[in-house]
Amino acid sequence: MNEHLKELIDKLNAEKTLSRSEWVELIDGHGDEERAYAASIANSLRKKRFGNKIFIRGIVEFSNYCKNDCYYCGIRRSNKNAQRYRLTEEEILECCDEGYETGYRTFVLQSGEDGAYPPARMAEIVRSIKSAHPDCAVTLSIGEQEREEYALLREAGADRYLLRHETASKELYEKLHPSFLSFEHRMKCLRDLKELGFQTGAGMMIGAPYQRTEHLAEDMLFLAEFQPQMVGMGPFLPHKDTDFRDKPKGSYELTLFLLALTRIMLPNVLLPATTALGTIRPDGREQGVLHGANVIMPNLSPTAVRKKYMLYDNKICTEDTTADCKFCLQARMKSIGCEVAVTRGDFGEFVDSGS
Ligand code: 5AD
Ligand code: FES
Repeated sequence: MNEHLKELIDKLNAEKTLSRSEWVELIDGHGDEERAYAASIANSLRKKRFGNKIFIRGIVEFSNYCKNDCYYCGIRRSNKNAQRYRLTEEEILECCDEGYETGYRTFVLQSGEDGAYPPARMAEIVRSIKSAHPDCAVTLSIGEQEREEYALLREAGADRYLLRHETASKELYEKLHPSFLSFEHRMKCLRDLKELGFQTGAGMMIGAPYQRTEHLAEDMLFLAEFQPQMVGMGPFLPHKDTDFRDKPKGSYELTLFLLALTRIMLPNVLLPATTALGTIRPDGREQGVLHGANVIMPNLSPTAVRKKYMLYDNKICTEDTTADCKFCLQARMKSIGCEVAVTRGDFGEFVDSGS
């Protein structure tokens, strides 16, 4: 192992951040040995806080209509091949009820940016879920809104909000998004969410088109400064109906390395082993956990619509049911000595590992 890079990993562990040039050195210079070293630290930090427990969140993908047009995304509005669907409030609640029976205590409502669910309607849906399942957390993942709208959703009882920053570089942001989307507004949304008391999730794709090491360094600096409660990161995967169809997928190993560095930098963070990681490699999610991830987010959507929520090609779990995924995940976690926890799994909720 390169001694200097090992020292940088130790320094990150001690000081919880690195300089821009150190990030670039570490990301550019690392190989399998440095990744294994980072993984060993990350995995023990995870175990110290969460023992062998893995938090699960059930995602209800309730609409794939989207007014945005992010160049990488399979449900962007200009994809005319996407078959659009919306779930009714009753259908959303049914998914949550089934999830509850299966052991989920966090529901993630995710959709494209669909004007058919204005904040008042979303607030109603949040209230219904909270009153049906008062012991559960509700996470929203419905994109950019104005501060007053986020405030309304928070008042309705939503606990958490996922809004990946996508990239902390304005220059790269503009290569991945059409000009009507603004980097500044996305960052403002994240600040608003955090100030309103949401447990807030940021994150980025690894290996997005045009992304260089300097951009990833910028992302890590941003995460160190913003201190999100959750970080979502997975490999970029192309979608056949987007302009990025021929772009190479992100690196599996680099995603694992950055997951480990994120756990080391933000030891308490809620860090999912994403579906994209499980798509790029059959055991990607297990490896994610072994690199410090402590959350898995399977699908609760009705099987009939799962294939329509395709952000990238070959997404896993689209032929499966809620029960299939729960069973599958239990076995996967058991294979690496972990166990799925039946709990909300809030930020700061640590598990007594008995050690
Ligand atoms: N590959 C990987 N991740 C993607 N996302 C969107 N499209 C893709 C893709 N092609 C991610 C984005 C978004 C999240 C919901 O999914 O980071 O924030
Ligand atoms: Fe869905 Fe494995 S988690 S089938």
